[in-house]
Amino acid sequence: MSGVNDIRSTFLDYFKKNGHEIVASGPLVPRNDPTLMFTNAGMVQFKNVFTGLEKRPYDRAVTAQKCVRAGGKHNDLDNVGYTARHHTFFEMLGNFSFGDYFKDVAIELAWNLVTKEFGLDPKRLLVTVYHTDDEAAGHWKKIAGLPEDRIIRIPTSDNFWAMGDTGPCGPCSEIFYDHGEGIPGGPPGSPDEDGDRFIEIWNLVFMQYEQLSAEERVDLPRPSIDTGMGLERIAAVLQGVHDNYETDLFRALIHASEEAIGVRAEGARQASHKVIADHLRATSFLIADGVLPSNEGRGYVLRRIMRRAMRHAQLLGAEEPLMWRLVPALVREMGQAYPELVRGEALITETLKLEETRFRKTLARGLNLLSDATDKMGEGDRLDGETAFKLYDTYGFPLDLTQDALRQRGISVDLDGFNAAMERQKAEARASWAGSGEAAAETVWFRVKDEVGATDFLGYETEKAEGVITALVRDGAIVETAEEGEVVAVVTNQTPFYGESGGQVGDAGMIEGDGFTIAVDDTQKKGEGLLVHFGKVTKGEMRIGEEVALRVDHDRRSRIRANHSATHLVHEALREVLGTHVAQKGSLVAPDRLRFDFSHPKPISEEELGRIEELANEIVLQNAPVVTRLMTVEDAIAEGAMALFGEKYGDEVRVVSMGTATDGEKAGKTYSMELCGGTHVAATGDIGLVHIVSEGAVASGVRRLEALTGAAAHHHLDDQERRLKDAAALLKVSPADVLPRLETLVEERRKLERELSEARRKLALGGGAQKGDGADEKQDVNGVAFMGRVVEGISPKDLKPLADEGKRSLGSGVVVFVGTSEEGKASVVVGVTDDLTSRFSAVDLVRAASAAIGGKGGGGRPDMAQAGGPEGENAAAALEAVKAAMAG
Ligand code: ALA
Repeated sequence: MSGVNDIRSTFLDYFKKNGHEIVASGPLVPRNDPTLMFTNAGMVQFKNVFTGLEKRPYDRAVTAQKCVRAGGKHNDLDNVGYTARHHTFFEMLGNFSFGDYFKDVAIELAWNLVTKEFGLDPKRLLVTVYHTDDEAAGHWKKIAGLPEDRIIRIPTSDNFWAMGDTGPCGPCSEIFYDHGEGIPGGPPGSPDEDGDRFIEIWNLVFMQYEQLSAEERVDLPRPSIDTGMGLERIAAVLQGVHDNYETDLFRALIHASEEAIGVRAEGARQASHKVIADHLRATSFLIADGVLPSNEGRGYVLRRIMRRAMRHAQLLGAEEPLMWRLVPALVREMGQAYPELVRGEALITETLKLEETRFRKTLARGLNLLSDATDKMGEGDRLDGETAFKLYDTYGFPLDLTQDALRQRGISVDLDGFNAAMERQKAEARASWAGSGEAAAETVWFRVKDEVGATDFLGYETEKAEGVITALVRDGAIVETAEEGEVVAVVTNQTPFYGESGGQVGDAGMIEGDGFTIAVDDTQKKGEGLLVHFGKVTKGEMRIGEEVALRVDHDRRSRIRANHSATHLVHEALREVLGTHVAQKGSLVAPDRLRFDFSHPKPISEEELGRIEELANEIVLQNAPVVTRLMTVEDAIAEGAMALFGEKYGDEVRVVSMGTATDGEKAGKTYSMELCGGTHVAATGDIGLVHIVSEGAVASGVRRLEALTGAAAHHHLDDQERRLKDAAALLKVSPADVLPRLETLVEERRKLERELSEARRKLALGGGAQKGDGADEKQDVNGVAFMGRVVEGISPKDLKPLADEGKRSLGSGVVVFVGTSEEGKASVVVGVTDDLTSRFSAVDLVRAASAAIGGKGGGGRPDMAQAGGPEGENAAAALEAVKAAMAG
């Protein structure tokens, strides 16, 4: 007898020896298959290889594939716990041939594995084939030597395997194990086949066709093989037990829950322990693959599974949240085969703890309500839909949980009533929206949301996925098709595109379908749960229902990630350097830069900016992993996570942490911890470099920083350096000497300016006027001494000292200087010595001069006034105008 881990590796190794590539399990959220909610078979990750769309470097593969059958078409949730072989999560072992070997080799490989490697007694084995498949029956006879009566022909779909309504399919052949006469049950195809005696252990599918639609089925390019063996079942057979939950792996998980609760898995309690063990696997693996509990889509299925287990923990008498305490046992059992469990352990633990803590608060009250409502009921009665809906809406009881709680008493739930209550609530939510400002244009999104449901966001995990177009909107109206050249909004059932929120811009990229392409330039969140791609159809025509490949522009997204993580680092650094009064007021995380607005009363000094940049870059250099966890807002804030004021958060929040503080009070603790729904780098080193490029004010008390990261920061610094080198070349010094050289030049220039101005002043006073005709002479105007000069290149501010000197040299008189500039403008100053101010006002005189040079008045005091005008060529006329005014 061997353990589950040995059986898994025996299977993988056996096929490896036989030329198969061991391929890791695909994720539970199928990225290449929009038609499935969860991966439910080993062939899902190879769907496009079977149909010839995708090429792999191997023709034979073997996998142990994680599968979930809950919520979708196959839904085993309600049975789990009450039967020996139902699971929400299971592992499917399978070997695959992509156009390489076919029926004979598949049968031979399978027969040798079960009889030789696994050592099952051939006499206990029998097989089924599709009723028309003589070829397969012939091989079984020849290869396994099975007699006719142990090759059973089945005419039903049981022996024709199809992945779904569309996709690869073909006849199949199943291997059964006979537990012997002591166990009730009949062979496959017989009326009592559902008994426990004959157990199907392996399904070999001879993939031959592709179902394109309900009517159309075509041949696959090359006949192929897909097989599926439930690991839990074969383990039970090999370990000689009837119940999958009695295999070593499940016993270990059940043992952990027995220990944690202190209640043995005996009698009626067995079912609850089974539920917990099964659901622990499903929830942990789903969380590890990026699904988080929510009220929509996949997240809601996860929540239902979790809450069902949590309700059973409560039934067993667990007083504290239980599930998170079982995670280490699961990681111990399965972490080696599935390293994603080890990587995701913190997130799984947090998510389970949070969900169970929250759910416990309402569980007791909900159960009270339920028992009040069903107090007087008995076998065959029905709980009204209103109460079931209230339990759902107010107490977070998924419908199946209510049904489960009532099943033992034989009470059912009025489903129509439940659905009607749900519809009514949706309508009310819509009506309350219609009242707000933007509602008119937005109602279309609520309609779309109601019709097609929320979009599943896959973008934390991947940048590429497949989806189905569920709605198209053009010019605010729902349409069926869109064609080349049209600008359209595209809704798909799932997408890796991030919808603008939390300052982070929406993703851009491509959506491609059969014969058409859309260039997406933006993605927005709409209608409470939709992610809407906006773009232009660049090729072909598209319609609702078509399958598409969605591809986020990777470079752009990488730059956005780096800028978002850098924003968190800058935020924390600002608080460290400037103080904790710094609160985020707004942010923009774009591909080319980040912008961060925050409260701070004054400009930030260069030194502070330098320190902020330095701190942020210290964390970049730590290359610390960016860790994402889920918790309640209260817990997050208690741990010190930064939340934005005035932001509305749900009950659960995503908390993004990075880096370790190296000094200050926080030394040794997490550097940055923020509530954030955005996308981030995997490790801080991916940011490359943070460089602040500007700082300024946006409003009173609010400052704005802009920064660059990675290649953009590098280019910016490169540019700066190039400028410095150019300057150095011009100055003919090394870059290091640019500053001292400039200081010398500036000082020299100041000195020269001073000398020049002095020389001009001397020239101006010392005679030799550059313009005018003899106007430079001292003159006598009606018995008053007059000095008038036109001087070039003297600035208006230097004219006044000239006039002062002029007055001093005259002793008594009127002085006029007209300065002309290179641009042809003129400025004039008039000085009147004090003894004459009772006769002449400098202000009046300068006005006369101003009129001559086209100016508009002028001003000053009676002893000194100034004016200016555009007509420098009339400078001499200005002197004459003053003389004329004096002559009166
Ligand atoms: N794809 C086949 C199954 O799921 C093997 O049974």
